[in-house]
Amino acid sequence: MAEEKIIIFDTTLRDGEQAPGASLTISEKLEIAQQLAVLGVDVIEAGFPVSSPAQFEATKQIAEQVKGPTICGLARSTGEDIESAGKALAPAKKRRIHTFIATSPIHMKYKLKKTSDEVLKLAVEAVKYAKTFTDDVEFSPEDACRSEMPFLIEVLTAAIEAGATTLNIPDTVGYVLPYEYGRIIAQLKSDVPGIDKCIISTHCHNDLGMAVANSLTGVRNGARQVECSINGLGERAGNAALEEVVMAVHTRPDFFGKDRAKPLTTNIKTTQIHKTSQLVSRLTGFVIQPNKAVVGANAFAHESGVHVDGVLKERSTYEIMTPESVGLGSSRMVLGRHTGRHGFADRCKKLGYKLAKDELEQAYQKFLQVADKKKEIFDDDLVAIIDDEVRVIEHTFEMEYLRVLIETGTSPTATVKIRSKGKLKEAQAEGDGPVDAAYEAIREATGFSPTLESYSIRAVTSGKEALGEATVRIKQDSRTCIGRGVSTDIIEASAKAYVDAINRMVARKDSGEETEVKVEL
Ligand code: KIV
Ligand code: ZN
Repeated sequence: MAEEKIIIFDTTLRDGEQAPGASLTISEKLEIAQQLAVLGVDVIEAGFPVSSPAQFEATKQIAEQVKGPTICGLARSTGEDIESAGKALAPAKKRRIHTFIATSPIHMKYKLKKTSDEVLKLAVEAVKYAKTFTDDVEFSPEDACRSEMPFLIEVLTAAIEAGATTLNIPDTVGYVLPYEYGRIIAQLKSDVPGIDKCIISTHCHNDLGMAVANSLTGVRNGARQVECSINGLGERAGNAALEEVVMAVHTRPDFFGKDRAKPLTTNIKTTQIHKTSQLVSRLTGFVIQPNKAVVGANAFAHESGVHVDGVLKERSTYEIMTPESVGLGSSRMVLGRHTGRHGFADRCKKLGYKLAKDELEQAYQKFLQVADKKKEIFDDDLVAIIDDEVRVIEHTFEMEYLRVLIETGTSPTATVKIRSKGKLKEAQAEGDGPVDAAYEAIREATGFSPTLESYSIRAVTSGKEALGEATVRIKQDSRTCIGRGVSTDIIEASAKAYVDAINRMVARKDSGEETEVKVEL
């Protein structure tokens, strides 16, 4: 029986990056886009090119370098936006312009200050202009779910006549419930003339926690594209989580397939899900909650005796999907002090790293240091070591020494020695706690005093000597940077993360990458 595909449209780099605090550098976006291609997404929404030179450049570089998926750029319904998207996407073999305009009374009146006739005209002009850059044009009536149905039908009909090939139905504010969203999709499918020639797409926000349920109900009612993001990243409460949508379709073929002539599937290589999720989490600094479906640390962990007993007797008693199906199986692989260079290199390769000879040696030396303290090194440890030691950014500041003293009844004190441009600077400071003292000393030694916006620490793997990974988000002059640090000592990991974030800030400043720009949608 032939299959019917659901197109997976990934918007991690566009809507996902609009999440407050989730700003990525151009090279980080490229790294994520390359991994999305390995994961097998059909469309990558690479950015919103007109919104800033960095967004334009990131979209262009992804269009030039990422092979496989269609590369898409977002544009409001204006000539300038569409031209910018067209230019940024020009190098892509398969390119799509995604143009949108709001159609709900509330958005038209207060945000756009336009009548419905004016909106209709702009939508048609936008689609026609986008068609001069590519045949593949997607149109979104923003806030579709709070729009009046007759007007929604009118705009979509006009967009089809103007040449739109995908019609996206956004629940922009995450307002509707699954039953309502399904009904909207079903009505549009039956009442919009010519819609059978187009792909109907879902784009659901998660304000009421309904994004995945709404998207899947949309699919049941005829949508064949789902817009989603890794880890559900996106504006406010986020978008539909790609991994949840995909695993629902994969786990419940009876619901999505059995009673249909053609079973529904996706092109996603589900075994790449865990790796992609970890990468996005690391680069954005958005830690995944342990009980997050599919990719949370506890998603496949069984604690209670009854459950463990059941799983040991027969896995399917308490597991509806296997950890291996989302790429977790190999993380049980253990390396140790006696692992040679060859075995180490082989494991790095299997984890998807392409390291140059000197990078491999650098990572191996660090691995040996960690293996001295920690008997068993798991894949997740290895990923943390490589990302910490080999990640390629210019280090303006190198922390060569850190000492933190904690004594009951006195304030903790920290001493750091930081090398920069050949000179070693020592600084001492007191703080409310050991990390605070270390950060104060680092501020003094580097001359940078960014605001600490967020700080988190997690154990990379389990056990007494587990590696701790600290992630910080700092902000200065409206430029936000994420830093990470790994060590078996959590104070040292925290200090490393702070220095890393400062180094990234300096690197971005030096490369002329502008500060965060928010464009009104
Ligand atoms: O949520 C939304 O409406 C959007 C549009 C730009 C599609 O992100
Ligand atoms: Zn959105």
